[in-house]
Amino acid sequence: MNTLEPTTTLPDTAVEPAVAIEHLQVRIPVDGSPAPVIHDVTLTIGRGEAVGLVGESGSGKSMTARALMRMLPDGAEVHGAIRFEGEDVQEMSPRRLRAYRASSIAMIYQNPHAHINPLRTVGDFLVEGLCQVQKVPRREAEQKVVALLVAVGIADGARRLSQYPHELSGGLLQRVMIAAALATEPDVILADEPTTALDVTTQEEVIAILREAQVQRGLSILLITHDLDLAGAACDRLAVMYAGQVVEVADGAGLVERPLHPYSAGLLAARPEIGVRARLRTVPGRPASGFEVGDGCVFAERCAFVTEQCVSERPQLRSLEGRQVACHRAEELDGVLLPLADGPVGADAPGQDKEPS
Ligand SMILES: Nc1ncnc2c1ncn2[C@@H]1O[C@H](COP(=O)(O)OP(=O)(O)O)[C@@H](O)[C@H]1O
Ligand SMILES: [Mg+2]
Repeated sequence: MNTLEPTTTLPDTAVEPAVAIEHLQVRIPVDGSPAPVIHDVTLTIGRGEAVGLVGESGSGKSMTARALMRMLPDGAEVHGAIRFEGEDVQEMSPRRLRAYRASSIAMIYQNPHAHINPLRTVGDFLVEGLCQVQKVPRREAEQKVVALLVAVGIADGARRLSQYPHELSGGLLQRVMIAAALATEPDVILADEPTTALDVTTQEEVIAILREAQVQRGLSILLITHDLDLAGAACDRLAVMYAGQVVEVADGAGLVERPLHPYSAGLLAARPEIGVRARLRTVPGRPASGFEVGDGCVFAERCAFVTEQCVSERPQLRSLEGRQVACHRAEELDGVLLPLADGPVGADAPGQDKEPS
């Protein structure tokens, strides 16, 4: 039935993407035996591109970022390719890995308070890396970080340097973390739920700062979030992840107007409508983690369109209509999977009692 072959080459048209992850699989030891947390992640981030990695909690978004930093839990087994500017991250020597983490790629986390030493000043935190790793004299480093603090919207940066983390609000501290990430002049920033702990107004400001850094500095950004609207507003392309697999990649507008994967449609239908935030819908069923899925499609158990083929054979990410989707029935469901206002995903669409295609 499927006329299109699974993708075997990188999806981007760009020359060499900054980051290329191909068929990543990760197993981590749980009670002594390896358990799969990532089944199949294929994803590129072009130079200067912002990609949103979207999916419910437990789908493996943070694990993907950790794999890219080569910071997986002890005993993790990794298969597939993770390349930075064409270089295999798995093969980096300890020395090369230190340099990579110090100046090529930087991470911003959900809870800045958990990732900063509470006993040291903001100034020490910010200049330390520049002085120690990049051998910049302290005074010069301070001037540089004050300029960076201005760039992330902290006008009185010089005063902030003598403050301690607990004296700053979550929003201010997250800006400090972004300044710290920018200080190393990385090529790629991985932002893992950077605004989840912040109020809505501060969220928007932090996203605007990241977006500006992307444009002004030509940064590549991976924005990890469970918030589809946020990702759509902040990113050039979105990758939707479910239970350890990337199931759809599309530009934000394309995804919202015409989702190709039933899970993407489910996420869209589950969004709170503007002004109707009180009534949150969810994708029917419980989110699965990579541990729990069988041989078939990772979404089969929750999918309204499941067939026998879906249960027995895992669909790979393949190109379709200028995007990528991992669904056996994507051609049939194209145009049918509109985010519905009410009820389960695709209630009026071709149903599950159909013969396997
Ligand atoms: N250190 C760990 N040991 C065992 N399982 C883990 C560990 N960290 C995460 N997991 C599991 O791996 C899966 C993916 O987790 P994660 O990448 O954190 O998801 P996400 O960031 O999308 O919420 C989840 O099922 C989670 O429970
Ligand atoms: Mg996470």
